[in-house]
Amino acid sequence: MEWGDEAAWEATRRPLREAHGLHPEAYTSEQFFDLERRRVFEQAWVCVAIADEVAGSGRMLVRKVGSRSVLITRNQGGELRGFINACRHRGTELADADCDVAGTIRCPYHRWGYSLDGALTSTPFFDEVPRDDVDRADLGLVTVRVDVWGPLVFACLSDSTPPLSDWLGDLPERMAGYGLDTWVSRHERQLDIEANWKLISENYQEYYHLTWVHPELAKVSRVADHYRYQGAGMYCGQTTTPVSGDQRDDWLALPQAPDLDASDAVSGRFVAIFPNVLLSVLPNHIWMMRLDPIAPGITRETCTMLLPDATGAVTDDAIAPTRDFWFDVNAEDIDIVERGQRGLTRGAVPPGPLAPRFEEPLHRFHNMLADCMTCVGLDSITVPSGDDPSDVAAQWGAGTNPTPPTIDRRQAADTA
Ligand code: FES
Ligand SMILES: [Fe+2]
Repeated sequence: MEWGDEAAWEATRRPLREAHGLHPEAYTSEQFFDLERRRVFEQAWVCVAIADEVAGSGRMLVRKVGSRSVLITRNQGGELRGFINACRHRGTELADADCDVAGTIRCPYHRWGYSLDGALTSTPFFDEVPRDDVDRADLGLVTVRVDVWGPLVFACLSDSTPPLSDWLGDLPERMAGYGLDTWVSRHERQLDIEANWKLISENYQEYYHLTWVHPELAKVSRVADHYRYQGAGMYCGQTTTPVSGDQRDDWLALPQAPDLDASDAVSGRFVAIFPNVLLSVLPNHIWMMRLDPIAPGITRETCTMLLPDATGAVTDDAIAPTRDFWFDVNAEDIDIVERGQRGLTRGAVPPGPLAPRFEEPLHRFHNMLADCMTCVGLDSITVPSGDDPSDVAAQWGAGTNPTPPTIDRRQAADTA
């Protein structure tokens, strides 16, 4: 299959009620994985870190973006900076793990030094035999675009991709009430999952499986309480209102963030930002999962729990029930996506139909994937719009969200 050609995506491009899932090759083939790395992960805005991992000048993170290694740091003024992790002398890797660099990024080979803005500042002994053709100003580190939204740091290897603000669409405005800039991370864990990254994202985006895969989660996040949470942007969203059923209240154990409006105070927002971040925003905590594809059938998942700054000082014991509940739910998800990977690898049967009531986000996700896979350069990519009001009755599950976010009410008024 030629995955860079539009013809390969015919079953994805159909309207939702005629669309099928992705071909098994999308999850298992090295050829697909290679093209996906170039066309998706080396063109898109990819989440690489939590902002407080690189809170101060002098801290430097080393992250993979597609096939490239990227350095993330802050300059003396505190501004975020991104560089390709390779020295401008003979191309050596500058750092192999997150580290502190004080004021200078120094190559371990011949000790060339770079400022935190990437400028070449020292070249030991190089001028003992001077060269007329060398201008240090031409030999700064190769820059990579970086940007931040709330607690999330993003990098983008392509200069032609639209800015992060376009990529995220209405999400920053939609989530403005949470004051996400001030949330702090309290816990992190990395897992290697034997499944393609798309299976993990797809599984996150649909609650069709909730009753059977997560019988305990279904008590705090009931199927009947799920609604759409979808505006314009490169994301797939849903919301649960109210966040807790009447049988378990695990998600409400921690103190709530201050100043939430009536909708945010009782809801969970579950957003898959394309391509690699799964963000669950509850009234009192965030559970975030960042996906790094390692191979067609292996994904590294970094799980981070965040708390509002105002309540971030609670003890580890206070966090434990919420965190452990997420780990239990995540273990159930990992089990089912690894089973999915095995079936796709060993069965490789043709893809089946998507369930319109539950799997519209997957259709949206597959189409964003197709847009990137068929594009060399994303300068002309169309950031998808939000819900078409005529589809709301079919796709909003149990009916109209009883406490929709403020932005939905305003948009409804605009289109009335
Ligand atoms: S390769 Fe970096 S200083 Fe020589
Ligand atoms: Fe799940």
